[in-house]
Amino acid sequence: MPGFSTRAIRAASRVPAAPQPPLNVPIYATSTFEVADATELAELLEFARPGHSYSRYSNPTHAALEEALAELEGAEAAISTASGMAAVHGALLSVLRSGDEVIVPKAVYGGIVGIVSAVLERSGISARAVDTTDFAAVEAAMRPTTRLLWLETISNPTTAVADVAALAELAHARDVVVAVDNTFASPALATPLALGADLVVHSTTKYIGGHSDIIGGVILGSAERVAAARKIVINAGGNGSPWEAFLALRGLKTLALRMERHSVNALAVARVLEGAPGIDAVRYPGLASHPQHELAGRILRDGMAGGMLAVELAGGRAAGERFLGRMRVAVHATSLGGVETLVSHPASSSHRQLDETGLAEAGMGPGTLRVSIGLEDAEDLVADLLAAAAPG
Ligand SMILES: Cc1ncc(COP(=O)(O)O)c(C=O)c1O
Repeated sequence: MPGFSTRAIRAASRVPAAPQPPLNVPIYATSTFEVADATELAELLEFARPGHSYSRYSNPTHAALEEALAELEGAEAAISTASGMAAVHGALLSVLRSGDEVIVPKAVYGGIVGIVSAVLERSGISARAVDTTDFAAVEAAMRPTTRLLWLETISNPTTAVADVAALAELAHARDVVVAVDNTFASPALATPLALGADLVVHSTTKYIGGHSDIIGGVILGSAERVAAARKIVINAGGNGSPWEAFLALRGLKTLALRMERHSVNALAVARVLEGAPGIDAVRYPGLASHPQHELAGRILRDGMAGGMLAVELAGGRAAGERFLGRMRVAVHATSLGGVETLVSHPASSSHRQLDETGLAEAGMGPGTLRVSIGLEDAEDLVADLLAAAAPG
């Protein structure tokens, strides 16, 4: 009879049969999977047969999240990643190689500016920053070496809306691949693949998770494009954890409801803040004053415009600091897409890589605040933010 330790390890590793499926996808907290023989393992590592070999390659909880998100984005395939930036990295490097050029929006998440200098430029890939709301500027920026056009459905933090369909047509006519970061819209509001995008990425940290308790990402597209991205993700060690995948799946169940409430709350706040004392401008795609209001109405579902606002305070940086110190309901924190309202100051956080000129080019000033409207009562948010913005 084997000793106690041997028996304990075996006894505690028996996976129960569960003939009645649980309502929720189990967390497969295992780094590895038992195989019958070397051929099976070799084939699993090559994705030549269904199943799982090692959780850096795939894991059933990841697979459930990937299938769910692929269905909701209208994608053939998906790969979940350890963070939104791991998804951005995998998507970029699956398309670009040394000598290629990528066009990125001037108004874009600061992490893109970071990965361009920290990774792409070191790898012989150059980036050209363009105002992607200006069709002619995008066309003029295209070179024979341009391989990829990077877009954000709604830009971070200035909320510029991308005309994905028109830009995809322009790009495809020149053999340029189109990747869209759909984080701000979420699949509940927009599905860029249906508009012509080739790849979509999300930071699932944001609306998909929805509760500010995970870091994760996903890359979606055709089976071929996702297979190429999977190679990058696996080799760079960018796969997500099954614990985070479980929470992303749980968040997904209420995504539509949350996006509805985020959108209703954000519109209520945007309408009151626009023109309020101490505020120069409010940028929110749901406002008639937004430059792409009509486009937003076409590409975002059911007239919703999501929960993200950019607020330009009249008093610049000092007013920004005063605003953050006065808030009682909203929380001063980076990130977005959670149930709580978060306010951040891009010039000192997500876009700290940019100097004043870079900020201006990205459509921001030193007093621009990024506001992620949560699910609190709208009246409480309006009162809190109005009081925080009041001059003097
Ligand atoms: C639009 C957008 N894309 C990607 C990311 C990166 O996501 P993560 O922080 O999960 O790596 C962020 C994070 O703020 C984001 O706002």
